[in-house]
Amino acid sequence: MRAVRMEKRGPAKEALVFHANHRLPQRQPNQVLLAAAATSVAAGDWKMRSGFAPIPLKLPKILGEDVSGVVLEAPTGSKFKRGDRVFGCTGQVLKSGEPFGTNAEFVAAEESVLALIPAGVSFQEAASVPVSGLTAWQALAPAMPLAGKRVLVHGGAGGVGSFAIQAGWAIAKAQGAHVTTTCSGRNVEFVTRQLGADVAIDYTQAPWEASPGATAAPFDHIVDTIGGSYERASLRLLSKGGSFANLGASGPGVDKVSVWGIVGMLLGAMWRSMLGAVRLGPPYKFVMQDCTASKGLDQIAALMAEGKVKVHLDKVFTLEELAAAHEYAEQGHVRGKVAVTICDDPAARWLAAS
Ligand SMILES: NC(=O)c1ccc[n+]([C@@H]2O[C@H](COP(=O)([O-])OP(=O)(O)OC[C@H]3O[C@@H](n4cnc5c(N)ncnc54)[C@H](OP(=O)(O)O)[C@@H]3O)[C@@H](O)[C@H]2O)c1
Repeated sequence: MRAVRMEKRGPAKEALVFHANHRLPQRQPNQVLLAAAATSVAAGDWKMRSGFAPIPLKLPKILGEDVSGVVLEAPTGSKFKRGDRVFGCTGQVLKSGEPFGTNAEFVAAEESVLALIPAGVSFQEAASVPVSGLTAWQALAPAMPLAGKRVLVHGGAGGVGSFAIQAGWAIAKAQGAHVTTTCSGRNVEFVTRQLGADVAIDYTQAPWEASPGATAAPFDHIVDTIGGSYERASLRLLSKGGSFANLGASGPGVDKVSVWGIVGMLLGAMWRSMLGAVRLGPPYKFVMQDCTASKGLDQIAALMAEGKVKVHLDKVFTLEELAAAHEYAEQGHVRGKVAVTICDDPAARWLAAS
């Protein structure tokens, strides 16, 4: 199969190698085998590849967690059948010994991580949802129901942020929820007009935490996709009883983290979670994204089917261009998502042939 494999850490063009004839993944009895149509580049992908964080990895390894495609084989009694259009997040990121990710023509994935692609959604759009959409949902979950609440989403123009704003909007807007977000000036129109945020704070103009959008009234829930100084400032803006979701981001402008940096961040998060649990601090959740479809993907898919959540594709690359897609995402200013086409029509290409 065609696949792009990470063969060492470092710059994308050196680390990511295209193979025209890679060996296939073996489907396990509980897994679905997909002919992949598309994948996406999530922040975790380029961070693993670049050496941004010292995450243990057994190399070589096919990176990628997001996938969309058609079912070729499914377990006995599966809810999916051959030919179904599905999408999901395989969850291979933390399995350091797993050689197969989704930057490849064939993907084996647990049935529990997959969902049917809503009608009218393209393969590229679908492949852009799972990692970011699940994370956004799981970061909003502690504050649900969101009715009547003031929510602050940091980094609203990015992958996770764009889904968090839309989901927050879709599930609570009718009941009067209010969504504020931080972004650069070029994305103010995007986050307000296209995603539905009520207030956009341009973080490039002045300290965001001192702007009227941040100080007008306390927030009932904060989704922090930026971390570091953003977390410290955000915690001061929470209402009494307000909650906080930490996504493990390292702070604005940080381009590398050490083992000790990660340990410090995790200990800090554990400490704050404990304080929250015993009510000596705000309820605090460290989000480690769970790929199970019922933990957010099914819900986002339902909102997509109703047209309430849309995928905003910033750029679409081909599998052969994966290194360029990483380089683009790594700049840290993706608007929406970066998708990667693997095969335009996997049903025509593989269902008839097998
Ligand atoms: N814990 C988990 O399970 C989990 C899962 C997924 C992601 N994450 C983490 O969550 C973070 C966000 O991921 P992502 O996929 O959304 O990344 P992304 O798509 O690359 O986000 C980029 C966005 O961040 C915005 N941004 C950059 N600097 C900013 C700042 N100082 N203030 C406000 N916005 C800023 C950019 O907007 P402008 O261009 O307007 O600056 C851009 O739209 C990453 O650190 C990622 O590793 C964690």
